[in-house]
This record gives sequence, C-alpha cells and structure tokens, in this order.
Amino acid sequence: MICRELSSYARLKLDVVAAEGDELVLRDGRRVLDLYGGHCVNTLGAGDSALGQALSRQWKLLSFATNLLALEEREVFFEAFGKTLPAPVSGSGSWRVFLSNSGAEANENALKGALSATGRKRVVCFEGAFHGRTAAATAVTDTSDSGFVRPPFDVCRIPFGDIEAASHTVGEDTAAVIIEPIQAMAGVVEAGFSYLATLRSLCSDTATLLVYDEVQTGNGRLGTPFASQKFGVVPDIFTTAKGAAGGLPIGLTVFSDAVAEAFDGKLFGSTFGGGPLVLTAATEVSRRIASGELLANVVAVSEAFKKCGGAGPVQAVRGEGLLLGLEIAPGTSARDVQAGLLAQGILVGNSADAQVVRLSPPLTLAPERAETLRQALQNLEVVV
Ligand SMILES: Cc1ncc(COP(=O)(O)O)c(C=O)c1O
Repeated sequence: MICRELSSYARLKLDVVAAEGDELVLRDGRRVLDLYGGHCVNTLGAGDSALGQALSRQWKLLSFATNLLALEEREVFFEAFGKTLPAPVSGSGSWRVFLSNSGAEANENALKGALSATGRKRVVCFEGAFHGRTAAATAVTDTSDSGFVRPPFDVCRIPFGDIEAASHTVGEDTAAVIIEPIQAMAGVVEAGFSYLATLRSLCSDTATLLVYDEVQTGNGRLGTPFASQKFGVVPDIFTTAKGAAGGLPIGLTVFSDAVAEAFDGKLFGSTFGGGPLVLTAATEVSRRIASGELLANVVAVSEAFKKCGGAGPVQAVRGEGLLLGLEIAPGTSARDVQAGLLAQGILVGNSADAQVVRLSPPLTLAPERAETLRQALQNLEVVV
C-alpha cells in the first residue's frame, strides 16, 4: 500500500541528517547555525551529553511504566522542577502538576481544570494568541479556521495589552483568563509588567483564574525559570511544554494547590504523560535551570543579540532572554531576511507578523554566535 504523510507543514529546503549543539548538519556536510532551536524545544542544544547519558541509563533501568505505578522518577522530577517555581499567590504554598505530552494538551487540561474549579462557563483570551490545535486550545487561539464546529465553552477574545477591554470583560462569570506573557507566534509581542499586574488584580477581584501559557516563555527561555519570575506576577495556573524535556514530548499543567483542591483530579489522565524516560529528561533540564549557569548564559547571549538592532534591515530587537524578535524595516520582509540568512548558513524563524524574524536558539548558545548573526544581517543583499 502507498502511505504518505498528510501535508500539514511548509517544509524548509534543508536536508538535515544530524545535529550537534547549536548546529544542524546537512547531507552534503555543510553546517547551519540553528537560531530557531527546534521551535523552542532544544533547551540544552542537540545531543547534550549529560542528557544523553541520563536517558541511556534510564532506558536500561526502566524504559516505561504505567501511571498506575508510583515511580521514584516522578518524585525526583517534582523535586527538581519545584526548585524552579515561584511561590503561588494563594493556597498553602505548593503547586500540583499534571503531566501530559504537548503544549495543546497542557492548555486543554488547564482550561478544563479552571472551568471545573470555578463552575463558570466563559474564558477570556486574546487577539494574536496561539495556544495549540486541540478543541479547547484552538477555541482560545486567534485563528480564522479552527477546524472545529464550535468551541467547547463561551469564549471572549479581547485586544492584547488593552487594559480597558480587560476591565470591561473580566467579571464574576469568567472562569479563566488565558494569556501568553509574551505572544511568540504573533511576533514576540510583550504584555508587559503593568498589563499582567492589572490582569492579576482583575482576576483576584472577581475570583477568576489567571492562566499563563508558558509553552514558549518557560523553562529558562526568558533568563528566569518562568515568565512569572521575570515579570513578578504569578498566575493561578500555568502550562509549559516544548523545551521542558529538552527534545522529548512533554506537557505540564501546573495548578496552585488552592485551585487543584477545587476540582476532581480524576478528570485528568494520559497514557504516556509522566513516563520515566521523559521525566529523566525533564529532571536534567530543571536541574540545569536551577543551577543558575544556564540562565546567566541566556542573559549574556540576549544582551549580545540586542546589538543586532541597526544591523542590515533590522530596525530593533524586541523580546526577552532568548525569545527575541528582529523588527525588519518596511520594504523588506521577514521571509526575505530568513532566506538571506539561510543562504549564509543561519536558520531563524518567522512569525505571524510579516516584519518580524523570530529567534529561539538553544539556551546553551555561545554569545559569539550573536556576532555571527549581526555580520550576516549586515551582508544581506536585501538591505533597504
Ligand atoms: C504559546 C504556545 N502554546 C501552545 C502551543 C502548542 O504546543 P504543542 O504544539 O506542543 O501542542 C504552542 C506551539 O507552538 C505555543 O507556541
């Protein structure tokens, strides 16, 4: 029988056969500097040796086990992950985590928990948002075609960063407000401290649950473990995925214990979520984040990338840590810049904003790599 992949992705013309650290290796031996980092997944770069050794040990010891068994690997992970978390705003000061396999699942579970805990039916979300492609996640994503007939709950979408719209919309009928602290796919758009703080107080005043989607902003990417530490505003629930296990599929939905006590945990379940192999990887990532060295590197490399402002067609650099957007001058598009950089052996991402190139490299990137990018930007023939 003929069997082919469903065509879902616009594939890049790169014949990648291997990867090492921050480089992709092509079939013809050429190397490409990867400033896209597998879409925020390659936290520790490709082929990290400590991670590889830990996985190899774990595979031989216990490759998989059902969630019906209590596992030491899970407790070891929770201890390491706990060291990266802020204090919750309410409850007895601890968090409860549900483990799944992807960002969309993590968000699906966050919204299910919020609706169930509050007994309310309405969720507030934002223009420009991206939360994934499952039913609840697309309902709160700003897309013209979700592929579903109707959302599974009432949705109210408001402009991102508009305090007045939020004050008029969040009320005592609202179960949750779900927000990316920095909208990555929209083109690295920041909500900012005061907006997040306003949402926090609107939510607290109306007993609405504030949910952060930290699928991209979490796991050290902003130079802090999570965005809540970066901005000093802590949600009631947050989700993360992508880089949390350095390349293995994972989704985490993290509830303050006050929220978790208000619903039945039996609403949740997953065959693969929280398996020993993936948690071994996630433990290694959490430990590296907690050690501080990785985050110090994020801050240093971020500063170096900020020097790309003014290089070639780049007007300014926005974002935090290693979730950055290069703002491209009118007359040149982000796609032109992406193609021009690829021709010079550098892979970058684009976004929903045709004028923004997105950078989300491994957090282990060497600061000198920013200078490589700056020079390549200056060499671009597409300069206006
Ligand atoms: C902010 C955000 N949330 C959720 C998702 C969905 O994650 P996944 O593709 O793992 O389902 C993504 C994916 O790009 C994302 O960027």
